[in-house]
Amino acid sequence: MAKYGFIGTGNMAQAMIKGLLAQGVVPSDIAVASPTTAAKLAQAWGVQALSAQQVIQASDLTVLAFLPNQLADVTANLVFEDQLVVSVLAGVSVDQLVTATGSHQVVRTLPNVNVAINQGVTAFATTTLTVANQAIFHDFSTQLGTAIAVPEAQFAAFSAIAGSGPAYVFKFIAALAKAGVANGLADDLATTIATQTVLGSAQMLAASGQSAQVMQDTVASPGGSTRAGLDDFDQQGFDAVVAHAIRATVEHKHA
Ligand SMILES: NC(=O)c1ccc[n+]([C@@H]2O[C@H](COP(=O)([O-])OP(=O)(O)OC[C@H]3O[C@@H](n4cnc5c(N)ncnc54)[C@H](OP(=O)(O)O)[C@@H]3O)[C@@H](O)[C@H]2O)c1
Repeated sequence: MAKYGFIGTGNMAQAMIKGLLAQGVVPSDIAVASPTTAAKLAQAWGVQALSAQQVIQASDLTVLAFLPNQLADVTANLVFEDQLVVSVLAGVSVDQLVTATGSHQVVRTLPNVNVAINQGVTAFATTTLTVANQAIFHDFSTQLGTAIAVPEAQFAAFSAIAGSGPAYVFKFIAALAKAGVANGLADDLATTIATQTVLGSAQMLAASGQSAQVMQDTVASPGGSTRAGLDDFDQQGFDAVVAHAIRATVEHKHA
């Protein structure tokens, strides 16, 4: 089994570690380093807390999971040689990672929080990896969900849909539940119904091989109540609202 290391153990690293543990990676095969949280995770989850340099040495793949503006400081005194480095640092390019680490075995990734339940979608861009490192990264990333090679120029768009997307789906679920309450359902019940409906619909769509547009038409019979609702969404400019919010997200990430 490959050994995985994390330098930085905040929200994203913890989501990834949870996902790996849920897939049966043994805690002692995961090494972590950070000023304070790493020791707590070692106690709580049984992973190994080490210094950052020890993490690199103990791991087949080292994840950089601190804040992007810490890259130069954190890597300044670390020796990576040609270690496989996987970065989750938003906005930090493959070239910048090579410069900072000195490794030529580098993967820039953009995971989303759903990696914690092995349902993440992760964009990645790499240097030319050895065959062995390709296999190590493939095993690592597929344990966390789906990994997709994406040109670096498209990372900002990917981030708006996949990174911020979970928050937007939660917003839709909240709106759906609120509308249920406005129409007489109890709060908890409305939330359960809305959540399960979104979960089941996404699974149905993924299994169907059809487009989301076709699936809408499948559910909405002509002249029926669902069609009336879909027509109302269109009249209210639902697609334009979503497109506007995504644009705001992409432009913010570029700011
Ligand atoms: N959260 C997301 O949904 C998300 C999505 C995509 C990408 N990302 C990227 O993931 C990275 C981490 O984000 P986050 O949300 O997990 O941040 P976070 O919760 O603030 O965690 C930052 C981590 O960096 C650690 N750290 C601080 N100084 C360090 C040092 N000198 N050496 C090693 N570790 C150090 C902190 O350690 P202590 O806890 O011990 O202080 C903390 O564990 C960012 O680069 C972000 O762009 C996050």
